[in-house]
Amino acid sequence: MPATITINGAETPLPPDPRVSLLDLLREHLHLTGTKKGCDQGACGACTVLVDGEHRILSCLALAVQYAGRSVTSVEGLAAAGALHPLQQAFIEHDGFQCGYCTPGQICSALGMAAELRRGVPSYVTADLAADSVALSHDEVRERLSGNLCRCGAYNGIVAAVTDAVTESRARGAS
Ligand code: FES
Repeated sequence: MPATITINGAETPLPPDPRVSLLDLLREHLHLTGTKKGCDQGACGACTVLVDGEHRILSCLALAVQYAGRSVTSVEGLAAAGALHPLQQAFIEHDGFQCGYCTPGQICSALGMAAELRRGVPSYVTADLAADSVALSHDEVRERLSGNLCRCGAYNGIVAAVTDAVTESRARGAS
């Protein structure tokens, strides 16, 4: 098994202790504190990161060693050349946060959600289970982001930001 993991494009040694969670690797070992520790037990979504660019996972429930040889993207890896990712910009424009604690997880989760829509992965509210790709709707966004809690209650702004960014991304044919 490779003894490294790629974090935001940089190959990084795995910690010698195999019990270190992916979340603790990011925050405590690499000082990438954008990914937040809310509940540390899989209930809040604040620790969501992307694996291989599009699969969202809860990093508090993952051991770093499980992702040896894989690529992990945290919120720090989204902005390119100093420019915010369009979804980050949409959160600002739509007031999609208040305290901001849940925002990195919301953004990573929404990017994973967009990839699931592209792959035609249905949710509980998807009407056409046989569709190649799933249409975007507020209900789909609410259902698919229901694992990401916002204690400030900024949900209307979050749904608007995600809907706008994903719609524009689809129009551009980008991710
Ligand atoms: Fe991982 Fe809450 S910190 S789900």
